Amino acid sequence: HAKNLVAVIGSGNWGSVASRLIASNTAKLPSFHDEVRMWVFEEILPTGKKLSESINQANENCKYLPGIKLGANVIADPDLENAVKDANMLVFVTPHQFVEGICKKLVGKLRPGTEGISLIKGMEVKMEGPCMISKLITNILGINCCVLMGANIANEIAVEKFSEATIGYKKDKEVATRWAKLFTTPYFLVSVVEDIEGVELCGTLKNVVAIAAGLVDGLDMGNNTKAAIMRIGLREMRAFSKLLSPSVRDNTFFESCGVADLITTCLGGRNRRVAEAFARNGGKRSFDELEAEMLHGQKLQGVSTAKEVYEVLTYRGWQELFPLLSTVHEICIGQLPPTSIVEYRIH
Ligand code: NAD
Ligand code: 13P
Repeated sequence: HAKNLVAVIGSGNWGSVASRLIASNTAKLPSFHDEVRMWVFEEILPTGKKLSESINQANENCKYLPGIKLGANVIADPDLENAVKDANMLVFVTPHQFVEGICKKLVGKLRPGTEGISLIKGMEVKMEGPCMISKLITNILGINCCVLMGANIANEIAVEKFSEATIGYKKDKEVATRWAKLFTTPYFLVSVVEDIEGVELCGTLKNVVAIAAGLVDGLDMGNNTKAAIMRIGLREMRAFSKLLSPSVRDNTFFESCGVADLITTCLGGRNRRVAEAFARNGGKRSFDELEAEMLHGQKLQGVSTAKEVYEVLTYRGWQELFPLLSTVHEICIGQLPPTSIVEYRIH
């Protein structure tokens, strides 16, 4: 059998950690080529150096994952076409708003039989309706695409603290198992479930609930309120997922991608942190401004996902069924004050 060659598309916080994790396995497993190429969206650092060059010289992503060696077999490449050349396994891990543009550049450039996996939490709303990111990748590139989601705050996985993740697949269990082999380490336990829509919707929707949890923190409302928000959020996540995709299974919400990711993100994620600051400022400073100031180039997914979900809710007339998901968007755009997060029942 020819060896599998893996390329990672994206090199932000999770992209860098995922590359490190994968490279630790490709270096050991005979069915994979050692080298992992990681596509870098090129930036010039304050020192004047290119980010990709700096990553290759220091074996470290000084902007998105400082202080962590990626492994000698991770090679940063700012040339997208070259980064995926000859690869037959593509890992997509960029903020969701950039995926479509990236995929369009790859049309006609992939090896036949290429498999994809998306680690991206988000969705796109098109004229025809909502489109999950794995579907967008399949539609543009004509490749099969699994998803990997879970309670995975990247900085914790970077220092090899134990966590779990869930791979969602459609029909082809053998391919899902090959992906699980690539990602599994003693500190990163991966399970596979045949519910790609459920897994991806969990990962996507929890970012909206994390914004709500952050607002509650910024308003100093305490643990009971936060737990209530998480419970209501989880219930809305499940109901929304099932309305969009009736095949979604209840059990998926008990996997790492479901309740576990919801908990970790509501306790320690970036969406939570920026939403807390938003509420502490009484909603007077925008999310965009706070994101730029607090995250130094890292991107929030929850605010845009709330908008995308809201478009689906208003278009389909489902808004009243999802008071928490709707209210988060109305707070994000300044239509309601942050305190509305616990008052939505009264409008
Ligand atoms: P990030 O937010 O840390 O970094 C942003 C990335 O976007 C950088 O690599 C930057 O170079 C790139 N970028 C900026 N402008 C761009 C453009 N115009 N085109 C293409 N790329 C551009 O990224 P991340 O944390 O790796 O997030 C990627 C995905 O992984 C997201 O969907 C996120 O929800 C998900 N995720 C993140 C974590 C985490 O803890 N960081 C954990 C699980 C899942
Ligand atoms: P944040 O983007 O809110 O940091 O969430 C990270 C995540 O998805 C953890 O699984």
